[in-house]
Amino acid sequence: MQKGMKLDEFLINHTNLEMAKLLLALAEGCKVIGRLVNNAGLNDITGTTGETNVQGETVQKLDDLSNKILMDYLTASETCAGYLSEENEGIVTLRANAPYTISVDPLDGSSNIDVCAPIGTIFAINERVSQLGAVTEADFLQKGDNTKAAGYVIYGSSTILIFSVGKGVYGFTLNTQDGEFRLSNIDMKTPEKGKIYSINQGNIGKFTDGMKNFIQYCVESDKETSRPYSLRYIGSMVGDVHRNLLKGGIFMYPANKGETKGKLRLLYECIPMAYLLENAGGMATDGNQRILELQPTEVHERSAIFIGSKNLVEKAHEFLKG
Ligand code: AHG
Ligand code: MN
Ligand code: MN
Repeated sequence: MQKGMKLDEFLINHTNLEMAKLLLALAEGCKVIGRLVNNAGLNDITGTTGETNVQGETVQKLDDLSNKILMDYLTASETCAGYLSEENEGIVTLRANAPYTISVDPLDGSSNIDVCAPIGTIFAINERVSQLGAVTEADFLQKGDNTKAAGYVIYGSSTILIFSVGKGVYGFTLNTQDGEFRLSNIDMKTPEKGKIYSINQGNIGKFTDGMKNFIQYCVESDKETSRPYSLRYIGSMVGDVHRNLLKGGIFMYPANKGETKGKLRLLYECIPMAYLLENAGGMATDGNQRILELQPTEVHERSAIFIGSKNLVEKAHEFLKG
């Protein structure tokens, strides 16, 4: 396998034709989103639409545009039957007789759009369980262990597509010379031992005692375990998880004291990232159970997440159990 290989060549050799078509369409849509993101300040597309989405969050103009672009490109792929998005209230049938469904966060980290910090698109693809025709919620409410492919595109200092179709994790950097996604990261493995912790520590007052104690562990000095660890938090899951995937570390969005769910969405944020990190040799849990084992019950449901290097996720568990 050669660095520089084009995405279509890779897909033809690593997955079936229908999945390849879907992923290529998604990648083309993300190129369009990437261009919009790069030129955002010039085209009056920064700021909000003035609306709130189904989760009561402010919709940025780019959230809305990215959602529409992905729906158009995925419809054109002819292999994507159904679409679930952070920006749509319900599931959408794109092609009644196609084999796959996709769950997406069209633009993750939207608070970073206007400040030129990394943002991304996150996705997970399932095989539908319903018969042909309109898609049903059951097509989307599948355990992460059933995922057929997942990944993200990060729009940062480079635009990079990171994904897995079940065997290894691969990265393709968008070459700005010829407009092609080209292989840059082969069979990615996350370091088993990380030294970075990523969390919105401003919320510490709402954390459980176990969570507070784990943070205390991260900041204590200890030569043997290279503590204190470094705190890095960008405020976009894609940016934080991408850095930790490469460098080793743990990203956490816990449930607050007295609550059972965190902020991030199970189907289009937690499951895709968990699938990637597990395929890269890392771990992802809700503080108790593997994310990929959780049975989703609602399309927009949320979950706590602890994701990254094994040593740190296991250590967090020790503290969470008390
Ligand atoms: P989105 O922009 O898709 O709503 O996601 C934002 C998420 C995630 O990207 C990030 O990790 C988290 O929100 C940050 O939340 P806090 O501002 O509460 O730290
Ligand atoms: Mn998000
Ligand atoms: Mn989003």
